[in-house]
Amino acid sequence: MKAKVLLHRDFVISQIDRRLYGAFLEHLGRGIYTGIYEPGHPNANEHGFREDVLALVRELRPPVTRYPGGNFVSAYNWEDGVGPREQRPMRLDLAWRTKESNQVGVNEFADWCKQAETELMLAVNLGSRDLDAARNFLEYCNHPGGSTWSDLRIAHGWAEPHNVRLWCLGNEMDGPWQVGHKTATEYGRVANETAKAMKAFDAELELIVCGSSHSEMPSYPAWEAEVLEQCYDAIDHISLHMYFRNDEKQTLNYLAKTAIMERYIETVGGVIDYVQAKKRSKKKVTICFDEWNVWYHTRDADRERMDAWDWPEQPRLLEDIYNFEDVLQVGSILNTLIRQSDRVRIACIAQLVNVIAPIMTEPGGLAWRQTIFYPYYFASRFGRGTALRLAVESPTYSAEASGEIPYLDVSAVHDSSQKRVTLFMVNRHLTEAMESVTEIGGFATTGIADQALISGHDINDTNTLDAQNRVAPTARVDAELRDGVLKVALPPLSYAMVSLSLR
Ligand code: AHR
Repeated sequence: MKAKVLLHRDFVISQIDRRLYGAFLEHLGRGIYTGIYEPGHPNANEHGFREDVLALVRELRPPVTRYPGGNFVSAYNWEDGVGPREQRPMRLDLAWRTKESNQVGVNEFADWCKQAETELMLAVNLGSRDLDAARNFLEYCNHPGGSTWSDLRIAHGWAEPHNVRLWCLGNEMDGPWQVGHKTATEYGRVANETAKAMKAFDAELELIVCGSSHSEMPSYPAWEAEVLEQCYDAIDHISLHMYFRNDEKQTLNYLAKTAIMERYIETVGGVIDYVQAKKRSKKKVTICFDEWNVWYHTRDADRERMDAWDWPEQPRLLEDIYNFEDVLQVGSILNTLIRQSDRVRIACIAQLVNVIAPIMTEPGGLAWRQTIFYPYYFASRFGRGTALRLAVESPTYSAEASGEIPYLDVSAVHDSSQKRVTLFMVNRHLTEAMESVTEIGGFATTGIADQALISGHDINDTNTLDAQNRVAPTARVDAELRDGVLKVALPPLSYAMVSLSLR
């Protein structure tokens, strides 16, 4: 099988916002407790944060991390998580039916973000609470001092403001499962008024309004249109969420589902354009894809367990163990985000540690990389710069999820600061190898500087505590660069990253 790709320096999609490779950590299961925070663990630092986990997070370099939810945020009182630890209340979390000890709150998490070298992105509760709690939270976090809430932060031991720039106005407010679920009109009005109040405090904040929880919601895409009608001029981004499932165990159909994501982004882009035109607005709202991942390995079983349990603390929840097939899916999701980076400025893998996450930990034990760690790692490390529009000729197949779809899924990024152009490729074919031939235009290439291949595994292979490196990249791609033409031999079902150095 052969595929042909045309790449040219001038065919630019967009300068990629570095925040496209963000992450998300929710107070859910063991994401925070025994995930990033475990005082008493042999690798815990003086703040109780696990250094082994911090090292893995720094490897991934998420530029931004969303916190504290997720569904959790819609019944969360941020005040419970500040002040002396011994006085913090034990609460029942209605989203996941667990107990929340509040031993980590916004101040500790801001410290963790500094140690992890990631920017803090916060969500306010617009489910059980309203504008007032949101504006007080903002003042607590960002005002230098001399006001009630900022002085309280100082009294709690954080003299410097956290200076959080990115704020989500609630979470999945279209979802009937959400505490404080609203209609589009109700939510749009609350979001508008909250955004206006927050921008009265600081006009430079970037505010994210909730779009649909996924593109199968009955209210999609009317939800986006109505919410944006209400608040277009007060906000900056609209959020999308999508989780991928393969319950039917149909690899080809599963791998075609990124086409749904691509359409979802394009449709919401169209709704943004429509509302912008209707309002005669000069402003371009962009997309914040602040939850995406594969999530199905534990989903139904978790739901049954949750219905039966008695409010446990930090239970094992949403601990999907990812396989090799998921590497290919996550590689294609990231390719989709790169190809849509003119619309999608911010995106967050959901989530970062233990809970549907690239990093797993054992309480008191080791931390390791799940299979999906790697495509995220390569995109985050090599995918910064300018996204290039490619012309791709590839054999195709037909799938229920997508219609006709190419076997080759590919994206490319030019990083002028590092003098490199990088291709990310997935061969979706189950049994056939593919020779991909890329003509490189407008660049003086000097060689293949970096390369990685993940292939040759059974689709069900996983990385576990006992076999942590079963699925890992090799640094050897069968690739050749000659006279501005890059030939890559992609084995069946494979992920490859090839980075070319430039003069
Ligand atoms: O990431 C897990 C959950 O998925 C989040 O809490 C929620 O926003 C979404 O439904």
